[in-house]
Amino acid sequence: MRIAIFGLGYVGCVSAACLANEGHQVIGVDVNSLKVDMINAGKSPIIEAGVDKLIAEAVAVGKLRATTVAAEAVVSADLSFICVGTPSNENGSLDLQYVHHVAGEIGQALGQQENYHVVAVRSTVLPGTIAKEIIPVLEEASGRRVGVDFGVCSNPEFLRESSAVADFYQPAFTLIGQWDERSGDRVAAVYQNTDAPIVCTDIPTAEMIKYVSNTFHALKITFANEIGNFCKKVGVDSHEVMRVFCMDTKLNISPAYLKPGYAFGGSCLPKDLRALLHRARQEDLDLPVLQAIPRSNELQAKLGVEAVLRTGKKRISILGLSFKAGTDDLRESPLVYLAETLLGKGYDLMIYDQNVSLARLTGANKQYIEKVIPHISSLLCPSLDDVLAHAEVLIVGNRLPEVTELLKRTHGKYIIIDLVHLGDNQIEKNQNYLGICW
Ligand SMILES: NC(=O)c1ccc[n+]([C@@H]2O[C@H](COP(=O)([O-])OP(=O)(O)OC[C@H]3O[C@@H](n4cnc5c(N)ncnc54)[C@H](O)[C@@H]3O)[C@@H](O)[C@H]2O)c1
Repeated sequence: MRIAIFGLGYVGCVSAACLANEGHQVIGVDVNSLKVDMINAGKSPIIEAGVDKLIAEAVAVGKLRATTVAAEAVVSADLSFICVGTPSNENGSLDLQYVHHVAGEIGQALGQQENYHVVAVRSTVLPGTIAKEIIPVLEEASGRRVGVDFGVCSNPEFLRESSAVADFYQPAFTLIGQWDERSGDRVAAVYQNTDAPIVCTDIPTAEMIKYVSNTFHALKITFANEIGNFCKKVGVDSHEVMRVFCMDTKLNISPAYLKPGYAFGGSCLPKDLRALLHRARQEDLDLPVLQAIPRSNELQAKLGVEAVLRTGKKRISILGLSFKAGTDDLRESPLVYLAETLLGKGYDLMIYDQNVSLARLTGANKQYIEKVIPHISSLLCPSLDDVLAHAEVLIVGNRLPEVTELLKRTHGKYIIIDLVHLGDNQIEKNQNYLGICW
């Protein structure tokens, strides 16, 4: 493929060197003539293992050259990658001036050619940027229409400096957010020899995945550092702790607990976190990330209350009361908090949770229910039909099998507040449906 790469910094240089090495015809573009001259002389403008050699070889066999003239590059390419910088403004917002500028230049050049061309954004930009900031510039400058005359994709870069070439050839996946299939297919063709799955999404999803990845990496580093600081204070080897911690690929290093939903609760997580934070305070240890967890969890619990308030309805049924399905344990269940708050605000509540109803009659939780939450206990009803008949608003608090089966048939009658993320095959997601954080 004939490829133009705009911006010959870390991302642009590595992409240019590797794609030319793959046999594509690559032309790099940069406003910095020094970088352009270096590439044309077969030298790398960046320090990065392996890039020097790849550039020298690609330039020698005529697969790679560079220019400062955008139009020259676009005209001789089927696909343009935008790899210019997106630094921070003083207030933290994204400085899009380089992206705007380069989109304007590509757009002008597109106006001068008839061939179908795809513009793929590798620079890191926030969700919505391509649709709201880049496509309008491309369309205005070219006088052409996206999806008709040219295509657009988001193709975020996940390389790490210092291992960028290896990351290029062995990424976890190649991510393509596509305007349409035609755009995506062209970008995918570039990566046909890369040993990684190609994941196609819509454009905002791809833009967001890049931010989720980097935010999670930052969170992981900070988490490990704060755990390290705690371990040091209490005389435990932090590296041994994290080594063993990482051996658990079921719950620790895994997709577990990474699904957006309602607040956490139960008999362990809140209590154990509180104990750890208390000990940290005793040790005069500041752990801002860990200290922020309870507050974040409280805010998530409040979102459930606010969702109900916004419906303007009074007759509310909560499906599920324990902190997760399959248990009768009510200790620190966020659904108990939700029920108590709504009750306090005068809502007419009914609650269905078969496990808890049973536990009210017998079992170890009988005493807890009678002594600690008698006011909630009296709202429990063992008949799902009666609880449904009562409701204007249904809160799906737990993934109870009998409830999800029934919701398929009764949907449409109620406003549904979903705290568990029911699947599209479990519920119709119409205007009466509200997901807590989706
Ligand atoms: N550096 C990384 O490890 C990395 C990894 C993944 C994603 N990213 C993202 O990729 C983007 C590029 O990052 P980088 O580190 O390569 O940036 P960089 O600052 O190293 O390079 C950007 C290049 O763009 C050039 N440029 C500016 N305006 C231009 C224009 N109108 N036409 C042509 N060239 C122009 C600059 O001269 C510079 O050479 C950013 O959005 C960044 O967040 C970076």
